[in-house]
Amino acid sequence: MNAREIRNGIMLLGVQDWSRRLFDSLIPLPDGTSYNSYLIPGSQKTALIDTVDPDFEHTLINQLKEIPKLDYVVSLHAEQDHSGSLPMVLKKYPESVLICSAKAKPLLMEHLNIPLERIRTVDDNEEISLGDRTLRFIYTPWVHWPETMSAYLPEDRMLFSCDFMGSHLAGTRMYAGDDPNVLDAAKRYYAEIMMPFRSMIKSNIEKLRPLEFDLICPSHGPIWDNPETIMNAYAKWISDASENKVVIPYISMHGSTAKMVEYLTSELADRHVEVNLFDLAVTDIGKLAMELVDATTIVIGTPTVHVGPHPNVAYATILANAIKPKAKYAAVIGSYGWASKAVEHISAMIPALKVEVLGSVLCKGEPNAKTYQELSDLAELIASKHNI
Ligand code: FEO
Repeated sequence: MNAREIRNGIMLLGVQDWSRRLFDSLIPLPDGTSYNSYLIPGSQKTALIDTVDPDFEHTLINQLKEIPKLDYVVSLHAEQDHSGSLPMVLKKYPESVLICSAKAKPLLMEHLNIPLERIRTVDDNEEISLGDRTLRFIYTPWVHWPETMSAYLPEDRMLFSCDFMGSHLAGTRMYAGDDPNVLDAAKRYYAEIMMPFRSMIKSNIEKLRPLEFDLICPSHGPIWDNPETIMNAYAKWISDASENKVVIPYISMHGSTAKMVEYLTSELADRHVEVNLFDLAVTDIGKLAMELVDATTIVIGTPTVHVGPHPNVAYATILANAIKPKAKYAAVIGSYGWASKAVEHISAMIPALKVEVLGSVLCKGEPNAKTYQELSDLAELIASKHNI
């Protein structure tokens, strides 16, 4: 796509990556993504904020073909989807200076071989004048790496947040408005990428709140033209409050675990507890991550393979441990053939989750009357924990 004007000569550059379906060879991207880059002309200097994934550096260079001079190239975040085209941009503009945080400097040198003499680091809250415009850099660590920072343009009331408050969404729309689909994509993005850093996000939001801005320009997805929409959503997602919701990731090999999951789901629904099932044989792992944003309880359903959990369940469990949802309770249910250590194995896989383990219900082969009674008891316990 061509460069497009946002306001007063400030341009949105970058790429809509419609076809990308996986990020970090892990995260599903059902709607593609974008790599946004922003050109900020001042009366004396011109700055470019972030670049694009290196697969698309030719697109960015083409968008810059009418720009004779760049004084500053700002790297808000050193991950390659934003920094990967820096070497090409720095080569095109040999007089330009690369601006980054102190922690980004070694990363950019090590990951991209950027020479030391091209780099100028800025401190937290340091400003650089473009003439009639000012760029203020605000350290916002851990959104998504330790070196990340945001840039604030007070004269135009714009905040450039890179990954923070982004969404993996390819499209031609420039602004998010209040479209629930964009908010949904932002929630998925938060769940998959930001959720492990909840406490850091909280302090970053508190740091940004006093600034006056009416546009948040992330480096993925549409621009937030109603910043309160995404700021309030983040405030809710990172809060300790969870919802009356149970998430059950499960898999079944011969149907016994599926019967247990279905029975427990009915018992919970009868007690007015919302349940979301994810059959790990077919599920979109990103949807599971989204539901984990505000669930109070996780029940893992697994058959036993040899003595441990099914490998797909082990994968989902390790992933849940990595993204650190705020769930307060957990349980394990499932069937086995002759013996099982599945509960012990799963318990060992979730050291990062601050959950109270409510117990387990296992059965040998088909669930029987005793199994169903234990599942009813588990449903009752979960409902009581949810204050139902
Ligand atoms: Fe969009 Fe952490 O990179």
